[in-house]
Amino acid sequence: MSDDQPRWLPLSELRRRRSYKWRAYPADVIPTFVAEMDVTLAGPVTRALEDAIAAGDTGYATSDPELVQTAASFHHARFGWHVDPADIRVIPDVMAGVSELLRRAVPPGSGVVINTPAYPPFFHHIGETRCRVVEAPLARAGSGWVLDLDAVEAAFTQGAAVYLLCNPHNPTGLVMTEEELRKIAELAERFRVLVLADEIHAPLTLEGARHVPFLSLPEAQARGIALVSASKAWNLPGLKCAQLITAAPALRALVRRLPEELVAGAGILGVIASTAAYRDGGPWLDQLLVLLDRNRRLFGELLAERLPGVGYVPPQGTYLAWLDCTRLELGGEPAKVFLKKGRVALRRGSDFGSVGTGWVRATIATAPEILVEIVGRMRAAAG
Ligand SMILES: Cc1ncc(COP(=O)(O)O)c(C=O)c1O
Repeated sequence: MSDDQPRWLPLSELRRRRSYKWRAYPADVIPTFVAEMDVTLAGPVTRALEDAIAAGDTGYATSDPELVQTAASFHHARFGWHVDPADIRVIPDVMAGVSELLRRAVPPGSGVVINTPAYPPFFHHIGETRCRVVEAPLARAGSGWVLDLDAVEAAFTQGAAVYLLCNPHNPTGLVMTEEELRKIAELAERFRVLVLADEIHAPLTLEGARHVPFLSLPEAQARGIALVSASKAWNLPGLKCAQLITAAPALRALVRRLPEELVAGAGILGVIASTAAYRDGGPWLDQLLVLLDRNRRLFGELLAERLPGVGYVPPQGTYLAWLDCTRLELGGEPAKVFLKKGRVALRRGSDFGSVGTGWVRATIATAPEILVEIVGRMRAAAG
């Protein structure tokens, strides 16, 4: 159904989906463990995909000039970031870009800094490319999260070669400030560290926060490569399309060394949908951000009312909720208890690094009544 307003789907329709989120658990479980939204597609995306299907346009993807042009225009209009379309490379997904870059940019054994708690596949991909995880945990400041620049500097001092910077941050939803990003650029320059800026959640920056693309800062350009995608904001991850962006000659040369075939791993429907999303999906995205803003507030109210022992900092960006369940005394893996006793599947906190023991991550991009049900089930499980 084509629809220009985002609309949350009811469970009866969601259960017909064939995505991992809806197939991983039995039908009596509510899944909220994957960063995927329970929403209808943006009208321009639906129409572009329908046209492609009608035309049988399902061959191999290419570095599509329309996609790189619309991606550049979107990033300029949304964030004031001037990107030369010639500096954009189409890749299948962000993590494929991270792996390919790590393989070529640094020797095996190199340290890669991540801010823990960290998106679980970061650990896997760093290990799989024979690099080494160096944790620079985020810190708490008042009621929120903050980047610990001293921890980042300490990691650089100890010889880390790469900083896999996740901003907005998964799972905390922290959006880093321009000042912090400038400091990162300065440290990266001083210690000659390559910064891979994973900005996949950038279009999901919520009211009250401002996303500053790392490469929009001139001092960051010599040491940074950005990885962006329409996949999170317009809910297209299964269509396989992301973009890698450089702004300095040495890093352009590194990107040129990536295998030509990489682009063939992207999905043509991903290329088509991303082009439509970047070009015409802005109004839909703005509506979505309003819904997500309401959800992050509602989720906080529900927790305060029914599970006051759970610590929750509303995300500044993303639709993720990183929940401190340590006071519930459900053991090191509360996700197990929530699943077994409450039939609600949250992502295990320990997957995000040892700092996540006793925590869980939820996805709040869903209908308010499903959020009510999620918290109700967590409450029932917590006893
Ligand atoms: C921070 C972050 N990076 C990367 C990804 C994965 O992106 P892709 O499917 O493009 O590899 C996700 C997915 O949720 C994510 O949250």
